[in-house]
Amino acid sequence: MTILLTGGAGYIGTHTCVALLELGYDIIVADNYINSTPLAIDRVKEITGKNFKSYDVDVCDIPGMERVFEENKIDAVIHFAGLKAVGESCAIPLRYYRNNLDSTLTLLECMQKYGVRNFVFSSSATVYGTSQNMPLDEKEPTGCTNPYGWTKYMIEQILRDTAAADPEFSAVLLRYFNPIGAHESGLIGEDPNGIPNNLMPRILNTAAGKMKALTVFGNDYPTPDGTGVRDYIHVCDLAEGHAAAIKYAVEHKGAEAINLGTGNGYSVFEMIHTFEEVNHTPVPYTLEPRRPGDIATCYASPEKAEKCLGWKAKRGLAEMCRDAWNWQQKNPNGYKA
Ligand code: NAD
Ligand code: UFG
Repeated sequence: MTILLTGGAGYIGTHTCVALLELGYDIIVADNYINSTPLAIDRVKEITGKNFKSYDVDVCDIPGMERVFEENKIDAVIHFAGLKAVGESCAIPLRYYRNNLDSTLTLLECMQKYGVRNFVFSSSATVYGTSQNMPLDEKEPTGCTNPYGWTKYMIEQILRDTAAADPEFSAVLLRYFNPIGAHESGLIGEDPNGIPNNLMPRILNTAAGKMKALTVFGNDYPTPDGTGVRDYIHVCDLAEGHAAAIKYAVEHKGAEAINLGTGNGYSVFEMIHTFEEVNHTPVPYTLEPRRPGDIATCYASPEKAEKCLGWKAKRGLAEMCRDAWNWQQKNPNGYKA
């Protein structure tokens, strides 16, 4: 079985490439490297000892994508390609709508033309908006607070409509919580462009001495220690969730939203302390006011994933912190030499 991964050179994509290759799937990657590098593909090959085709193509490019479908017999698609920075999406919303929606429409039209009907989509817990009903389950009403989130919301709807119109089509809408960590080899990991916004890359920068101190955004939330609580999930667990989703898509028809989270919430202080303990490295921090737009607490109900996909996250916070630090130490400047 051959799976096309759009955005397969990115953070979650590379880890999913490894998981799928190790399970014996054939893969093809389509990426324009707008937020990644071909070196990441070389590293996937190094980890797995397996070869595969990768196309340097913009998924919005119709003739370019038709070539990918023309030259390969594709059975299923995982659509990671997209722009993902919340703040940037507020500054340049049209670019986000154009890239994220157009790439999805191009892909779906190619799939229709070439008779490919199994689709797995990278959605996000951001579609739950400001909901306070923890744990979040898939029946929770959706709604967003920023253009990035709306692209995910709209694509979910496009996929539901596509499935409603074609009884043979199946789509799994995977709503990721907070992926962190890296492959245990330290060969692939998250390599954010410029100054990172997310907690783990900022912890890594601080521990590595690139930042003097981590800014903890708010210690007055209604949480056990006052700092924000999130459902951090090891990226390798997340990757394995995609393999389970592919199997589900092949065996079921229709569109199904499924959370990929652990069901556990950890605070910013718990993250800092676990990181320091596991890696014997200090993470100095300063307390700052709340970051605009942040909610106090967000964690998943992982029940549907377990029931439908037979998948459950296995790796704990200590492993996430250890593997993230291992990647950082082996690649102090990311993929750049
Ligand atoms: P990433 O930026 O590392 O990977 C995305 C990849 O898509 C990159 O390699 C980029 O070059 C590529 N890409 C973007 N637009 C493209 C286009 N038009 N044509 C071809 N390639 C294109 O991001 P990631 O963290 O691996 O995220 C993967 C997906 O998961 C994204 O859709 C993201 O929105 C979603 N997601 C990520 C998180 C997270 O915290 N990392 C959380 C929820 C959802
Ligand atoms: N935080 C800090 N200091 C930092 C960075 C973050 O205290 O330097 C705190 C935040 O306030 C929050 C927690 O750490 O309480 C996690 O923040 P992240 O930025 O790592 O993650 P978010 O949950 O805010 O956002 C992530 C993704 C979004 C996605 C959202 C919901 O980055 O793309 O989850 O799924 F929309």
